[in-house]
Amino acid sequence: MTAALPLAARVVRWQRKHGRQGLPWQGSRDPYRVWLSEVMLQQTQVSTVMGYYARFLDRFPDVHALAATALDDVLALWSGLGYYSRARNLHRCAQVVVDLHGGQFPRDSATLAALPGIGRSTAAAIAAFCFGERVAILDGNVKRVLARALGFDADLSKATSERALWGLAQSLLPNRGIEAYTQGLMDLGAGVCTLRRPQCGVCPLETLCVAHRQGRPQAYPVKSRRSARGRREHTLLWLEHRGRIWLCRRPDAGVWAGLWSLPEWESADRLAALTNDWHGEGAVLPVIEHALTHFDWTLRPLRWTLPSSMTAGELANLEQSLPAGRWFSTVDALASGLPAPVRKLLTAPSNP
Ligand code: ADE
Repeated sequence: MTAALPLAARVVRWQRKHGRQGLPWQGSRDPYRVWLSEVMLQQTQVSTVMGYYARFLDRFPDVHALAATALDDVLALWSGLGYYSRARNLHRCAQVVVDLHGGQFPRDSATLAALPGIGRSTAAAIAAFCFGERVAILDGNVKRVLARALGFDADLSKATSERALWGLAQSLLPNRGIEAYTQGLMDLGAGVCTLRRPQCGVCPLETLCVAHRQGRPQAYPVKSRRSARGRREHTLLWLEHRGRIWLCRRPDAGVWAGLWSLPEWESADRLAALTNDWHGEGAVLPVIEHALTHFDWTLRPLRWTLPSSMTAGELANLEQSLPAGRWFSTVDALASGLPAPVRKLLTAPSNP
């Protein structure tokens, strides 16, 4: 890299030679496809997104198809990608685009950013990729790249610092090649300027990077308020009767929002207080450790099979003591929006 070349020109040149090319959503200027990929790629790696992206496009080839479907169909296809509020916003956004914009995505980042689930950075990415708008992105990865390159050491937990970095990001944009530049920053953040092990030796910004010169890339970005990870523990009940499973709809906010899942209890004792009165038998299954953004979750599944001889009256009685839900055939359960660990549990070969 030429030492005198400014940051943007280096990123553009590097992206064209070394950045990611040929991903299914690249080379398309169709905002529906780009939007779908950008929402999936928020918090999720490219390798995970690929299969989901193909299945989504297959099932919902355009924004009209997505808007017309039931939310449950969207959640079912999203199952396993995590951060389910993205799926609900995706569905709402499709409906707003159809109802308020005649099925055409707005062509500028400011209008895009007003749509459900499209934040400033995602709006900018869509506008840059589809319409060539000269506008800055600033997702978590790009914050890290720019903070290191510029030696930006203000505390990004503060809104004023974040605003300042947005201003700098906008001032660095190239006059031409916004698509390659935008993709290049993403690619650097994902594969070169990584959180723990930055590969400065292959980075096009090495010779101008302040953090590298200081020998402390990991010191950036500065963020004083880091969320402490918590722990939670629950007992899950996999209750079966005549091959059907009792599932509950999770609340619209919080973890696994809106998905169907197994009912849960605060402790094995609380659940045992119920099962003590039940017919049939239970089996304690291996513990599931599930890591979410803000906490680690220990799930202890208990599988309980009710005798098929139970009368309708007995069953109705028992249902009264369960969290609100309904019986699903195994096929219907697996076709629903289930959280990935629950799907895995229900389909494990060790749990026939
Ligand atoms: N992360 C967010 N958007 C992306 C994109 N377009 N390509 C690769 N990673 C991304």
